[in-house]
Amino acid sequence: MIKISPSVLASDFSSLGAEAKRMEDCGADYLHLDVMDGRFVPNITFGAPVIGSIRNKTNLVFDVHLMIDTPLDYIEDFKKSGADIIVFHIESSSPVQETVDKIISCGCKAGISVKPNTPVEKVFPYLDKLDMVLVMTVEPGFGGQSFMPETMPKVKAVRDEATARGLDLRIQVDGGIDDKTVSVATENGADVLVAGSYVFKAKDRAEAIRILKR
Ligand code: DX5
Ligand code: ZN
Repeated sequence: MIKISPSVLASDFSSLGAEAKRMEDCGADYLHLDVMDGRFVPNITFGAPVIGSIRNKTNLVFDVHLMIDTPLDYIEDFKKSGADIIVFHIESSSPVQETVDKIISCGCKAGISVKPNTPVEKVFPYLDKLDMVLVMTVEPGFGGQSFMPETMPKVKAVRDEATARGLDLRIQVDGGIDDKTVSVATENGADVLVAGSYVFKAKDRAEAIRILKR
């Protein structure tokens, strides 16, 4: 089953709670929350207090994408803010196994993300414990960039590995997902689609989500 995770990065931040609720009403499954620290990526967004402030506005699964340099130091904060899935970057400075274990011991589902130039095989040693792998389809840091089709073999490689091991793994793609790029991503095995600009800038957001699910 394909899940849609709209990225609030493209939403109206002055009404974040209402935007989150609207996404639920429009048929989204998850809410994608992009946390950036100005170090791991050259942009700053928001942290755990902002996420916590909208937790009671919607029942959507909170899918927290940490683009921060030391994710291990903040896992408990994000758990307390209401995160359901916590995804961190394998390129960050935190020890990978320890960070995965910490997320799981807090009671969240764990995901690891890879940037476009990072081989996806780097996540294979941790696959058995992960709920999700995020294959970035743009360089992390900003919304509204163009989808990079050259990342698709990585989606297929991790899907094949999960199938070979009999794992129930979700594969997320993030960046430049719209009505044109969605098919190649799902054909290669992605089943959680992040979309910022395409959903939030659409005249009919519910229709945009339906198109992605098709
Ligand atoms: C980029 C973020 C994405 C971004 C996607 O670093 O991780 O989640 O919001 O935005 P679009 O869908 O506009 O490419
Ligand atoms: Zn993201």
